Amino acid sequence: MDQSIPSPCFVLDEARLRHNLKTLKTVQDQSGARIILALKGFALPAAFPIIRQYLPGTTASSLNEARLGYECFGGEVHLCAPVYLPDEIEPLLDRASHITFNSMTQWQRYKELFLRRQPGCSAAIRINPEHSEVQTDLYNPAIPGSRLGVPADELTEGLPEGIEGLHVHALCECDADALERLIAAVEQKFGHLLKQAKWLNLGGGHLIGREGYDTVLLIRLVKRLRDIYGLEIILEPGAGVAWDTGVLVATVEDRIERRGTRTLMLNVSFAAHMPDCLEMPYKPTVQGARDPHPGETGWRLGGMTCLAGDYLGDYVFERDPAIGDRIVLEDMMHYTMVKTTMFNGVAHPSIGIWHENGTFETVRRFGYDDYLHRIG
Ligand SMILES: Cc1ncc(COP(=O)(O)O)c(C=O)c1O
Repeated sequence: MDQSIPSPCFVLDEARLRHNLKTLKTVQDQSGARIILALKGFALPAAFPIIRQYLPGTTASSLNEARLGYECFGGEVHLCAPVYLPDEIEPLLDRASHITFNSMTQWQRYKELFLRRQPGCSAAIRINPEHSEVQTDLYNPAIPGSRLGVPADELTEGLPEGIEGLHVHALCECDADALERLIAAVEQKFGHLLKQAKWLNLGGGHLIGREGYDTVLLIRLVKRLRDIYGLEIILEPGAGVAWDTGVLVATVEDRIERRGTRTLMLNVSFAAHMPDCLEMPYKPTVQGARDPHPGETGWRLGGMTCLAGDYLGDYVFERDPAIGDRIVLEDMMHYTMVKTTMFNGVAHPSIGIWHENGTFETVRRFGYDDYLHRIG
């Protein structure tokens, strides 16, 4: 890793991003689906000019994201939020090309306003096929009693007047075989509505950027839906766009060895900068390190906040890291920068792009003003 890159720093690798985007473009070209970027998963305006060369738009889950998509990305702006607020619905409709309502009561509440303002925006209902492909409840929209999407027994009378689309999001980091099963569940429970709808948004959770993802099956599934029902198909991945497209560079600031436990104290935090590591939980790959063999002790990576659980481990390094050494955590683009906090007031990592031409661009450094302006 180039020493001119500041530490800590999130570093997007342009070449790796373009690699994923080329795969997404091929899927679009060969299937006829439109693939838009879910801003909740990856929102880096400095990368939008690159992404815009391949994808026609974004999907937003709040007014802030809708503005970001509209003002900084361009193209189609889709909306899919669990609830729309009365003082935000007009500014949302000003920007949206597509809006998905999460419940029939939300649709009834804003229907008149929506119909008065048409055309320019197409509305959908989010459906819940009550079909689970995701093991972790925290990420499974199909858990019993889920607040996300309308189940089939609430939509027995056909597509509500004014609604043109359907939206289903029930996957998380899945391959195309999970989508095949999801589509079967949707057809079984909502087949009558598919015949009436103009478009179907298949949500996110398609890990198209991951090596080995079955794009051939995905293309076949999309083409089939288009052929049978005459539907426009939209996919809105976040993780699938930015999967494995960059790293978080950190530095060892201290080494603590206590009662057989060895910890490398880093200038980053799992709680504040990589919360999914603790929430999901998962253990990121670290360059030059591996999992310990049975009976072997490695190093814990210690986060810099005072939260007792702000650490991850263990890792065995090719060479024991010293104070001042750099630690590079892999695959740190999706659901990291969008989720960071300034908990403990800890410094936020800089953001940079490693360009294809071998130059490094610092996009943003953070300081006290950023901390202060969040709270006062
Ligand atoms: C409605 C909706 N669409 C798209 C996404 C993006 O999912 P992913 O980043 O897993 O592709 C999510 C993620 O939670 C979502 O809730």
